[in-house]
Amino acid sequence: MALPPSPDVLIIGSGAAGLSLALRLADATRIAVLAKGALHEGSTYYAQGGVSAVLDASDSIESHVQDTLIAGAGLCHADTVHFTVEHGREVIEWLSQQGVPFTREPNTEGIVDYHLHREGGHSHRRIVHAADATGRAIQTTLEERAHEHPNITLLDQHIAVDLITSRKLGLAGNRCLGAYVLDQRSGQVEALAARSVVLTTGGASRVYLYSSNPDGSTGDGIAMAWRAGCRVANMEFMQFHPTCLYHPQAKNFLISEAVRGEGGYLLLPDGTRFMRNFDVRMELAPRDIVARAIDHEMKRLGTECVYLDISHKPAEFIRSHFPNIYAKCLEYGFDMIHQPIPVVPAAHYTCGGVVTDLQARTDVEGLYAIGEVAFTGLHGANRMASNSLLECLVFAAAGAADIHLQLDRAPASPLLPAWDESRVTDSDEEVVVSHNWAELRQFMWDYVGIVRTDKRLQRARRRVELLLGEIDEYYGNFRISGNLIELRNLAQVAELIIRSALARKESRGLHYTLDYPQANESEPVQDTVLVPVNFAGADAPPYWTHR
Ligand code: FAD
Ligand code: SIN
Repeated sequence: MALPPSPDVLIIGSGAAGLSLALRLADATRIAVLAKGALHEGSTYYAQGGVSAVLDASDSIESHVQDTLIAGAGLCHADTVHFTVEHGREVIEWLSQQGVPFTREPNTEGIVDYHLHREGGHSHRRIVHAADATGRAIQTTLEERAHEHPNITLLDQHIAVDLITSRKLGLAGNRCLGAYVLDQRSGQVEALAARSVVLTTGGASRVYLYSSNPDGSTGDGIAMAWRAGCRVANMEFMQFHPTCLYHPQAKNFLISEAVRGEGGYLLLPDGTRFMRNFDVRMELAPRDIVARAIDHEMKRLGTECVYLDISHKPAEFIRSHFPNIYAKCLEYGFDMIHQPIPVVPAAHYTCGGVVTDLQARTDVEGLYAIGEVAFTGLHGANRMASNSLLECLVFAAAGAADIHLQLDRAPASPLLPAWDESRVTDSDEEVVVSHNWAELRQFMWDYVGIVRTDKRLQRARRRVELLLGEIDEYYGNFRISGNLIELRNLAQVAELIIRSALARKESRGLHYTLDYPQANESEPVQDTVLVPVNFAGADAPPYWTHR
């Protein structure tokens, strides 16, 4: 499909954040939504557990806030946590109105209402879900609504290469004016102007060799925002999900935390339940603790996986609550009704990202960031389960309100310069790209994973600097491709993760280092805020600022 003539709002990303934003804006504005592959191919589609929200009479906003703060290990921004949690009910009702088929069951008084799951870190049942494929239900429903709306143009197979800003064009200020977009079908790059641009590009977990995420989680939005002049914060907090299916063909298929929430045990190969040695909350401790415990036991025993067992629950309960997980495990030869299933941790979620305020505004005028790409302060040092989709939906609503207000004031888009290909040729060495992908992911897994040391981080830093140099040269000389764009972004994000991890001289939440195994409680706790070199004000520190 050809690019539409300057939409009012360009949304880069078609997951929960991008589509809910588009639907909230579309009655009054013309929207273009980009997806670099198929529309559904982001993390949203694969989400299993659900969306956290306070809906049960015995639950409270304060309890959800407290649980989030505890999981976040001292680094959550309390104002953001309150803001997000308070809007939980509203966004669930909005999703239901769009037609998302959440699971409903009679409650204790016999009234049919949302069925609520429990997950790690939550002290109440508060996870609204559509069986065990909540993301698929949300994604397909929102896609249907977006297809029906005449003001929304959905452009799959269109990958944003970079943001266009007034500063990059040598004009006054630093306003986002649009983006260069590669049509992956035709290979053409075009400049797309818009009065507001929104990054809803998801996270960067594919920077690691093993990840629960789809292939496109390559941190494009974080890297583009960084190059455009945005601060990026808390990138050391990469979350590893404790339980992905261990099988060579399973591509780290996730086994939802709800399986532990509904009573699943973690077992060593000899059948011993081991979480009691690590945390009184056992299998329902926050993810950082469970993932680290599994990593510890695997290294201690030299085993390739541990086991998750829910076979003590009735067969019908397992089939009805986890139909997709049950079927997928059977496909790989594991019958969770009768036997424990092999699991390993894998990179799952990017807690850091592009710094935004409560209206989803970034440091660059006219540029917003929503969803996993953003750093709002909600997750602190460790995201609590099912708070991510909640954040996508709450900040899409908040961002939409601000974009509505700002659009009338936004200047008309200037004519943007065409993409310059005059000095590049076709590559005859695609192998460089695939080799660098593999190398990057391997050393990130080995040196910047669940357990870190300064020495390993320094080693990773030297390697990523080499790669960045090579990739820059390649990018400057050859015609771009989707793979090259992703590799360039991934390497940039890896560098930000390593730099942030080196800056944090303590262990906290998801960042655990053998050199500083305790949290530093003697000084006020700080976010790790990186400022792009050419954008720091005269009195701004290079990075590592107080919030
Ligand atoms: P995504 O859904 O990842 O969408 C990103 C979009 O950006 C895609 O459309 C992609 O094509 C597009 N894009 C990226 N780069 C570019 C580019 N350069 N140009 C154009 N388009 C681009 N969270 C929960 O709260 N509850 C859960 O139960 C849950 N389960 C999960 C299970 C799995 C297996 C995974 C992987 C994650 C899970 N999460 C869960 C996390 C949650 O799903 C994600 O954080 C959330 O869906 C992110 O939504 P998003 O809209 O920010 O991005
Ligand atoms: C899961 O279902 O375990 C994933 C939940 C999440 O990542 O929030």
